[in-house]
Amino acid sequence: MQWSTLLPAFLAATASAQGGFPMMRFSCSQLVVDRIDPLVNPGQIPSPHLHQIVGGNSFNYSMDPLTHDLPSKSTCTSCTFSEDFSNYWTAVLFFRARNGTLKRVPQHQEEGLRGNGGITVYYIPTNTKRTVITAFKPGFRMLVGDAGLATLGPSRKTCHRCMPNSGDNSNINCGAPDAQTLPKTPCVGGIRSIVTFPTCWDGKNVDSPDHKSHVAYAVDSKANDVGPTGTCPESHPVVIPQVMYEVRWDTRPFNDKSLWPEDGSQPFVWSTGDQYSHGYSQHGDYVFGWKGDSLQKAIDARCTGDVCSALQTQTVAEADKCTVKRQVDEDYEGWLDALPGDPIGAK
Ligand SMILES: *[C@@H]1O[C@H](CO)[C@@H](O)[C@H](O)[C@H]1NC(C)=O
Ligand SMILES: *[C@@H]1O[C@H](CO)[C@@H](O)[C@H](O)[C@H]1NC(C)=O
Repeated sequence: MQWSTLLPAFLAATASAQGGFPMMRFSCSQLVVDRIDPLVNPGQIPSPHLHQIVGGNSFNYSMDPLTHDLPSKSTCTSCTFSEDFSNYWTAVLFFRARNGTLKRVPQHQEEGLRGNGGITVYYIPTNTKRTVITAFKPGFRMLVGDAGLATLGPSRKTCHRCMPNSGDNSNINCGAPDAQTLPKTPCVGGIRSIVTFPTCWDGKNVDSPDHKSHVAYAVDSKANDVGPTGTCPESHPVVIPQVMYEVRWDTRPFNDKSLWPEDGSQPFVWSTGDQYSHGYSQHGDYVFGWKGDSLQKAIDARCTGDVCSALQTQTVAEADKCTVKRQVDEDYEGWLDALPGDPIGAK
């Protein structure tokens, strides 16, 4: 099923009213910005690069899938749906000024949503009720993208969009003109980064050594498909909802070209280092943590947008209040000589 090319993503919440298919789309405010990564570098403080994290406050440097039960260990979540104690995180974007110093690019919520920075999270089922969509099991986690990637990666998984003042150009996420590379010109509405997760699961393992091989993209889904389309391979027969992140980076304070490199090259860099500033190292991490069968209920109820009769909801003010203390004490807000952790050895 192809998502109408005329439908702006921010109107997706109203898609079902227009005869499209439902997709949950809700805001998760910033829980913390910290240099830990319980998925890829469990137990390591600090981890190699800085992340921005949203979701339940049981987030920690180590979250063993067998013992760390997010819903029971969390007392709050920064997400709209208050039974969602999952953690969602990505790398952090920095601006490199002409003089070589770096400044963290702040985030803002998507149009039509409120919240303190963070991530807009999507859970997308199929357009028909015929396909059984199975929600994730406790302990489930997965990773999209590769923090070490310096060349073009697989298509449609991660991308960037140069945003207009409002709206989103009516293009499908990761379809043209979105690109795996960061935009090369100043963007009047900032930069949006997108992470699209696979829709097929092996039905057995909640994780795998690379945090990827227990899930798969459908074999014959078409470019620009939204949600679980196509057919899951025999090795990964269970259809899971498509998780997708949208992150709005407010690059507007850095749009003055006199601050950009004199050779005109684009000045944004991911916290991974990404030393040629291509943008390929963008990645997203997901640790499932919905309480009980709440996610399954929401999917079965075919909830859309950020209002769902099957779920408990909290106010933006309550979500904003849910934060955790940083574990790594380092400056990431000032003008910096090097990225936190100095992944490219600038110092
Ligand atoms: C993080 O995990 C460590 C080790 O399990 C534990 O001692 C600590 O209390 C946890 N921190 C939080 C904020 O839960
Ligand atoms: C580098 O440039 C930025 C942006 O103009 C400025 O705010 C900062 O103070 C400069 N840093 C140094 C060390 O000159």
